[in-house]
Amino acid sequence: MSIKYGMIGTGMVGGWLVKGFRGCERSELTAVASRSEEKAKAFAQQHGITTAYGSYEEMLKDESIQAVVITTPNTLHREWTEKAAHAGKHVLCEKPAAMTAEDSAAMIAACESNSVKFMEAAMYRFQPQIAQVLELIQGGRIGQTRLIQGAFCFPFKQEGNIRLKKSMGGGCLFDLGFYPISFAVLVAGQTPSFVFGASLYAESEVDLSNSATLQFENGISAVTECAFCTDIKIHAEITGEEGRLRLTDPWTARGTKKEIEIWKNKKHIETIELEDPNAYTTEIDHFSDVIAGETEQLWTPDDTLRTISTLEAICKSARIVEAMKVVGP
Ligand SMILES: NC(=O)c1ccc[n+]([C@@H]2O[C@H](COP(=O)([O-])OP(=O)(O)OC[C@H]3O[C@@H](n4cnc5c(N)ncnc54)[C@H](OP(=O)(O)O)[C@@H]3O)[C@@H](O)[C@H]2O)c1
Repeated sequence: MSIKYGMIGTGMVGGWLVKGFRGCERSELTAVASRSEEKAKAFAQQHGITTAYGSYEEMLKDESIQAVVITTPNTLHREWTEKAAHAGKHVLCEKPAAMTAEDSAAMIAACESNSVKFMEAAMYRFQPQIAQVLELIQGGRIGQTRLIQGAFCFPFKQEGNIRLKKSMGGGCLFDLGFYPISFAVLVAGQTPSFVFGASLYAESEVDLSNSATLQFENGISAVTECAFCTDIKIHAEITGEEGRLRLTDPWTARGTKKEIEIWKNKKHIETIELEDPNAYTTEIDHFSDVIAGETEQLWTPDDTLRTISTLEAICKSARIVEAMKVVGP
């Protein structure tokens, strides 16, 4: 059974998702909605999408669509998730699900009460290298995990972009920090008990850089960095009592190869090479499998709640310059 999707929004990630849909085996993008009819028509024509809607509401009335992909700015994710859920559509919502744990919980609850599935589109989780990392750790390859590090930094100055607008949920913490922070929470397997964040802010009040420390009850610590105001820095490392895993390209899908380096006692022991498929394709088809009831959801609502509560606590900690207790599942 193929699942028919409609896309809400016609921006940058929308274009990337369209390419992802092209490789899907059981997911079809049959409609797109924009706030402007002209934009919807142009996007549909450019990407060969059958139906174009000049309003999001209009598309939600389309009974031929079972699911929507929400690609709006962060601060609008809750509104459109709730409206889609009430219209009986399954929701694949771009990361970060929302700017607060309260909003995320409301989105998940709206989907549950309307018997539709909700998944935050954490694309990197669908890279085979992430499953491999978890397997290596669980298989004892680096002993007891103690320290997780991750960074996602690059220079970004595009004036007018949603990433630099506070009202749209901009700032590097929720945009880029989402990756290393959700990864740390995933690898640690729990919500941190407390966090400390430090940020540099622009005049517009969005954060331009953030570094954070996360302490987990199971004895794991994490240190994360993200920035819009530095040279490129992208990596992730997990250090255990008996070795270290190093991912040189953990967050994006480039269609080349991924590498996990294994280090022990300062020596490079092995490099595991992995495929780098279009992770948007894998993510979308996985969500269709979830909708069809054929698989367990890989990135669950609990993963979302743990991540967003952590991001929210780091954000608050950076504002008040105090360590924050995290309230989460
Ligand atoms: N998973 C990933 O790899 C990935 C990568 C990049 C971004 N994202 C996420 O995807 C979302 C969108 O990011 P993006 O870079 O694609 O943003 P973008 O290029 O600005 O696109 C956002 C779209 O949202 C719609 N929109 C609705 N209300 C809007 C408003 N008030 N202002 C601006 N746009 C509005 C617009 O579509 P219409 O004008 O057609 O209505 C716009 O094209 C964010 O949540 C971001 O974190 C995910």
